[in-house]
Amino acid sequence: MDMVNGVLNWVGTTAMVASLLLFYPPYYLFKTCYSFLSWLFPEDLTGKVVLITGASSGIGEQLAYQYALKRASLALVARRESSLQQVADRALELGARDVIVLPGDVSAPDDCNRFVQTAISHYDRLDHLVCNAGIASVGAFQEIPDVTKYSSQLDINFWGSVQTTFAALPHLKRSRGRIVVTASATGWNPVPRMSFYNVGNFFFHPLRQQDFISACWDFETLPVSCTELGSQVGITVVTPGWIESEMSKGKYLKEHGEVEVDQEMCDAQIGLFPVEYDKNCAKAMVQAAQQGERYLTVPAWFRAMYLWRVFAPEVVEICYRLLYMHGHGARQADTASRTMAESGGKQLLYPTSLRSEEIKSD
Ligand SMILES: NC(=O)c1ccc[n+]([C@@H]2O[C@H](COP(=O)([O-])OP(=O)(O)OC[C@H]3O[C@@H](n4cnc5c(N)ncnc54)[C@H](OP(=O)(O)O)[C@@H]3O)[C@@H](O)[C@H]2O)c1
Repeated sequence: MDMVNGVLNWVGTTAMVASLLLFYPPYYLFKTCYSFLSWLFPEDLTGKVVLITGASSGIGEQLAYQYALKRASLALVARRESSLQQVADRALELGARDVIVLPGDVSAPDDCNRFVQTAISHYDRLDHLVCNAGIASVGAFQEIPDVTKYSSQLDINFWGSVQTTFAALPHLKRSRGRIVVTASATGWNPVPRMSFYNVGNFFFHPLRQQDFISACWDFETLPVSCTELGSQVGITVVTPGWIESEMSKGKYLKEHGEVEVDQEMCDAQIGLFPVEYDKNCAKAMVQAAQQGERYLTVPAWFRAMYLWRVFAPEVVEICYRLLYMHGHGARQADTASRTMAESGGKQLLYPTSLRSEEIKSD
């Protein structure tokens, strides 16, 4: 066995690389032609039924408006009911065929079943499920007093998407619909302290490329794999970089287990990264879904970070350490990245809405 593996280590690797080099050009040509055709003939969303979780603010709110502009019928889910109602009213003004508001908590399996069933009872079909609800946490792993305070993040970001998908899948199969997942670029480019898991991944190395906020990035490893679904249900996985929203105002799950706005920590996290407008992100997401694209990163240039992660991971880690880590005994927000953000970067690179701490409250 040792000898077979030894030989395969040499011959197998060379053969794999050679076959990939041969296969890739025609495969790439096919994909380019396919993308071009999908761009010419995108899915017509008129009258299609779209369920969006996390539609009360940020990216989810803008997704509701973009689907409304395409004349889709909407089912909007989040916990803040009056904010959802305001989004629904605006979506109707923009052209949505119909909108229903479904207050609910995606971390409660019963709620997930209930809002999917209510949408089906009302519309009798479901074409797109957008798993967008999520929260972020911040805190250096070693300084967290009680890691269990962060467990709700996994319940919302991971189990929330899984439960909703599980409830919606039979209906999506019936309509040959699509699942759109708002994951995060931190799935393949973990940012220090963005979640305790990001720092903790040094201890959980096999899961290193994952992060609680973006656990569903690897949607293909969930019970709904692309292979399992075949062409019955499409999947579009979106990995945004920094996007204008309540989250990028600094709405974080903190060490004591409560969500609060901490703009200093947020500036320390974003630093000199330009923040994309929520509207542009949502527009790109709906377009990608209409064109049947499997992956999307917004803004697109963020994808280049992936190359640095793959080919020079140590360099990225050193840069992050210099920019994002606080000195021994200093406050967590006292980082070089925040100094840069506050000495002009924020004015230049962030949408003006992020200067205010105000978030919607019901
Ligand atoms: N902004 C960024 O830079 C960025 C980057 C990468 C990925 N993302 C991802 O984008 C998604 C949307 O976030 P956002 O940036 O637009 O932030 P946001 O403005 O804070 O929106 C989050 C949405 O999720 C909803 N939500 C949170 N917990 C929920 C729960 N338990 N049940 C139902 N809904 C819940 C919130 O509504 P209620 O509070 O009313 O329930 C809100 O509508 C998230 O999955 C996030 O991880 C954002």
